[in-house]
Amino acid sequence: MTQYISVAADDRIEARNGIIKLHGAAGFEGMRRAGRLAAQILDALAPHVVPGVATEEIDAIVQRMMVDAGAVPATLGYRGYSRSCCTSINHVVCHGIPGEKLLKDGDIVNIDVTPILDGWHGDTSRMFAVGDVPLKAQRLVEVTHECLMLGIAQARPGNRLGDISNAIQTHAEKHRYSVVRDFCGHGLGRLFHDSPEVIHAGQPGTGPELKPGMFFTIEPMVNIGRLDVKMLDDGWTAVTRDRSLSAQFEHSIGITEEGCEIFTLSPKGFDKPPYI
Ligand code: MF3
Ligand code: CO
Ligand code: CO
Repeated sequence: MTQYISVAADDRIEARNGIIKLHGAAGFEGMRRAGRLAAQILDALAPHVVPGVATEEIDAIVQRMMVDAGAVPATLGYRGYSRSCCTSINHVVCHGIPGEKLLKDGDIVNIDVTPILDGWHGDTSRMFAVGDVPLKAQRLVEVTHECLMLGIAQARPGNRLGDISNAIQTHAEKHRYSVVRDFCGHGLGRLFHDSPEVIHAGQPGTGPELKPGMFFTIEPMVNIGRLDVKMLDDGWTAVTRDRSLSAQFEHSIGITEEGCEIFTLSPKGFDKPPYI
């Protein structure tokens, strides 16, 4: 049995314990502000994601923008992670660590940011195209974004998490892509990673029922090749075992009475590349 608990914005922050939190109006306002900042940061990165730029330069921009906005990077110091964003290039599925590596023409890269603003976490990621990207990669990026938005279209009271999972999986597999199973979306709010787990492949009508006030991310990772993932020795970077290209988009959403609110929509309409 899924358990839910109504929480107020100033309640003590309880660790993830399997109980799904239902937030009120103040929570929505907090997430709206944190989510907007996260989306604005990704918007501002667009002109910087070009051939020859080191991923650590992007990380520095992300960190500065968060600090300037009075926010804290949630990933900095998170379980030993020491950067302000994740940069996952080509066959990197997620959690690529910014470093000296230079972006090159034809790369696709996911940039994932999570500012904590007034205690609320806005978690979002997008794909960026570096220079001229092969059609095959453009298509993957396009379909992965469609997967996210089709999942979000299922996010309304009365539906279940499995309805979201199934919409994503069905669309990805229709294009003969595979959905990564090793990582999932997550509840969030005043915690970064909270219940429930949001899996991106599954059966309709299964899993916890969606209720107004639930906050969670949807963040499907879709591979051109097989779904299998391998961890690199740095303990963070996940890559496709067959080295096929992988793409991901992530939004943070809140379930409302009518459907859902997307907290991390791009103010500039930069939903998917090209960002012009
Ligand atoms: N932002 C990622 C997510 O979507 C988590 C990154 S954790 C890190 O949940 F430590 F790898 F940065
Ligand atoms: Co997330
Ligand atoms: Co994220």
